[in-house]
Amino acid sequence: MPESLRVGVVGAGYVGLTSAACLAELGHAVSCVDVDETKIAMLRAGEVPISEPRLPELVAGHQEAGRLTFGTDLASLADAELVLLCLPTPTGRGGTADLGAFDSALGTLRHVLAPDCVVAIKSTVPVGTGDRAARVLGLPVVSNPEFLREGHAVADFLHPDRIVIGAHEERAAARVEALYARLDGPRLRTDPASAELAKYASNAFLALKVSYVNELAELCERVGADVTDVVGTMGLDDRIGAAFLSPGPGWGGSCLPKDTRALLHTAEETGMDFAVLADAVAANARQRDRVVAKIRHAATGSRGGSLAGVRIGLLGLTFKAGTDDLRDSPALAVAAALAAEGALLTGYDPGLARGADLADVQLVDDPALAAKDAAALVLLTEWPQFRELNWSQLAQLTERACLVDCRNLLHPAEVADAGFTYWGLGR
Ligand code: UGA
Repeated sequence: MPESLRVGVVGAGYVGLTSAACLAELGHAVSCVDVDETKIAMLRAGEVPISEPRLPELVAGHQEAGRLTFGTDLASLADAELVLLCLPTPTGRGGTADLGAFDSALGTLRHVLAPDCVVAIKSTVPVGTGDRAARVLGLPVVSNPEFLREGHAVADFLHPDRIVIGAHEERAAARVEALYARLDGPRLRTDPASAELAKYASNAFLALKVSYVNELAELCERVGADVTDVVGTMGLDDRIGAAFLSPGPGWGGSCLPKDTRALLHTAEETGMDFAVLADAVAANARQRDRVVAKIRHAATGSRGGSLAGVRIGLLGLTFKAGTDDLRDSPALAVAAALAAEGALLTGYDPGLARGADLADVQLVDDPALAAKDAAALVLLTEWPQFRELNWSQLAQLTERACLVDCRNLLHPAEVADAGFTYWGLGR
């Protein structure tokens, strides 16, 4: 029978809340602490502030069973055997990770934690942060990066494709290993610096892959090839893999943009020009501009390219399907650029409540309202339910029946049959 640990989780964001609920599911006794009193009050009342499958059930069930508690006082972690740091590390000055919240927690924890406590860092932090935290706390600190995806957070936690443990000491590594004793999945035991870098390297590589495919889509258009078949062929090679080869309006979200910037900053600090990564970031901005140019072309046609006063309907605003998260959403970056040219934007997103307040887009709760009188309808997020829309009806509602599919989600022939002139990416 794997041992049950007294675990403290600091931070109730995506990583913290998912970890806390899932560790309770694995049989540990978990206290989750966050400085945000409103959030903690919500969680105590069983309300989960993020949209993640299974998370509300886990939070409610384990709170009721007494395996999961929420609070705002770090002092409550005095008897924890293991503390996981799950604090946000947003982009700070010059692209570096801002460790303000992280350091502030360390400042309190150093007076609170028991002398035999082990600390593990789940936040994405620059190389060397774990060793620095160990010096501040006077305790062993293990790097244990998290690889969960938004929209799949619980499943990714409970069925990990890897568990990375970066530690100097065996005793501390064993404590973290015990936390996951009930989980399958390969373990990778390494030093803290390698574990810290591995997380950045993974996210940056994913960004690189998408930037590559977005540039490839542009080349496909220029030479008259179909990117779907090109990446379909590439993906069958095990060395390349089929995932992360879908062209789109650019990569976004709360992780890839921040982590690529931070990794570039780390490289710069060492005097290294990480040129391939810098260009992946530049390619992401080029992709937004390309998408905007395509929409301008589709929407204005004979009007000579000015978007001033032109109505455009947007389908999908979140940074990817399956989430309600708008942070660093490429769809919103495209919307901002269109609005800056004077376009009038109406947007529909199945993940967003109607009341959400957006700077550049009037949010509606029906795709038909986004299509109404639009010079172009633009699909920006790959929600699968968009495939099932009544495209003939939507074509009738638009002013010009132009459809720009920025995720290559739809079958061009089918929407053409429905009456649309279709633009995809790279096909
Ligand atoms: C990402 C990583 O995938 C996780 O492994 C990692 O744990 C997480 O960051 C994190 O650091 O916490 P997430 O931010 O949820 O997860 O988003 P992804 O699913 O990676 O998507 C990132 C962006 O790339 C989205 O804008 C998505 O639309 C875009 N994308 C992805 C494409 O444009 N094409 C693709 O083929 C794949």
